[in-house]
Amino acid sequence: MLNLSKLATAVAVVVAAGAAAAGEVEVLHWWTSGGEAKSVAELKKIMEGKGHTWKDFAVAGGGGDAAMTVLKSRVVAGNPPAAAQIKGPGIQEWAREGVLANLDATAKAEQWDNLLPKGVADVMKYKGNYVAAPVNVHRVNWMWANAEVLKKAGVAAAPKTWDEFFAAADKVKAAGLIAVAHGGQNWQDFTTFEDVVLGVGGSKFYQDAMVKLDQKALTSATMTKVLETFRKIKTYTDPASPGRDWNLATAMVIDGRAAFQFMGDWAKGEFTAAKKMPGKDYICAAAPGTGNAYTFNVDSFAMFKLKDAGAQKAQADLAASIMGTQFQEVFNLNKGSIPVRLNMDMAKFDDCAKMSSKDFVATAKSGGLVPSIAHGMAVSPSAEGAIKDAVSQFWNDDKISVADGVKSIAKAATTR
Ligand code: GAL
Repeated sequence: MLNLSKLATAVAVVVAAGAAAAGEVEVLHWWTSGGEAKSVAELKKIMEGKGHTWKDFAVAGGGGDAAMTVLKSRVVAGNPPAAAQIKGPGIQEWAREGVLANLDATAKAEQWDNLLPKGVADVMKYKGNYVAAPVNVHRVNWMWANAEVLKKAGVAAAPKTWDEFFAAADKVKAAGLIAVAHGGQNWQDFTTFEDVVLGVGGSKFYQDAMVKLDQKALTSATMTKVLETFRKIKTYTDPASPGRDWNLATAMVIDGRAAFQFMGDWAKGEFTAAKKMPGKDYICAAAPGTGNAYTFNVDSFAMFKLKDAGAQKAQADLAASIMGTQFQEVFNLNKGSIPVRLNMDMAKFDDCAKMSSKDFVATAKSGGLVPSIAHGMAVSPSAEGAIKDAVSQFWNDDKISVADGVKSIAKAATTR
């Protein structure tokens, strides 16, 4: 005979488990371009598949400065989201405030220590405890080119040095097209700048100038050469570039209005969303002079301390999903990046991603692997912000001499 009281208990247990198993997860990010939105939609799908409710907290603005401002006000008001896109040394700053959740239970159960390069795992930890989950590895030192435009202009191959680049850009100009699609926002100016530092100075110089912020390197003759080269690139951009979003600059290369763009491989997410094929419609190549180096940018989500049990469960599921093979594959196929999780099958990835993956491993051995300063990987957010402003001022004001530009960037680098 059916024991009603036993049944009632069983139902109560199931209901309680159901309540604790599902929760809302509010996620702050700045992934609003075509390729970015498609990528983040995959995470939403996975979380909804687990029964959770996804509360999207998107703050537009490439590079994430606007998102970080909004995040600060939410945390100060005592109302943080479950997770926020926070990267590099910024993770340590937030953890020091005591607002981040400890993800060790998930990390242990999922064996994160065995699945991540140690250097990446260390960035995700504060005082030995995981407080963030990594999503991907973006390579920043890429140059994107429209294959048809290069052909039209008589450029046989992607330029490998800055001299070759300027020769190619002259040909594009002569063909009546825009040589460099540039989005004029400070973080985009800074993205191009770090390519030039790396391409002109090499990875040891990049480490000294952009990671150690060594004054000798920052005021050296090499830095003068960097600023001269950087300024010359500007002469190949169109007058409408100030204020332009990065993805609109990518669209100029996709549509054949422009030949080149210097941008990290989130740009590839735009080519992919537009159904363009690498090697056929467009070319991915290392930025001039940076073939043996790799500026990395690891996106990650830091998790905030929450009180509600359902929300905590959803947050733990989010962390586990982010490091899961399903998400690491589908997200990165759309995003243009490569999985951060080790030993992933790269069969479905295109040649640009395969090249990125190969170069990531090779440069880690050779010493050519360097953190992107323009994307929050190299220095404290305050030093990064000050240098970014100085670089952008120099880019935007042709009246600032190279000597003064060098001085103001070196001075900005003393910001702590
Ligand atoms: C970077 C971020 C990328 C991409 C890009 C443009 O800082 O790491 O994932 O979103 O900004 O928005």
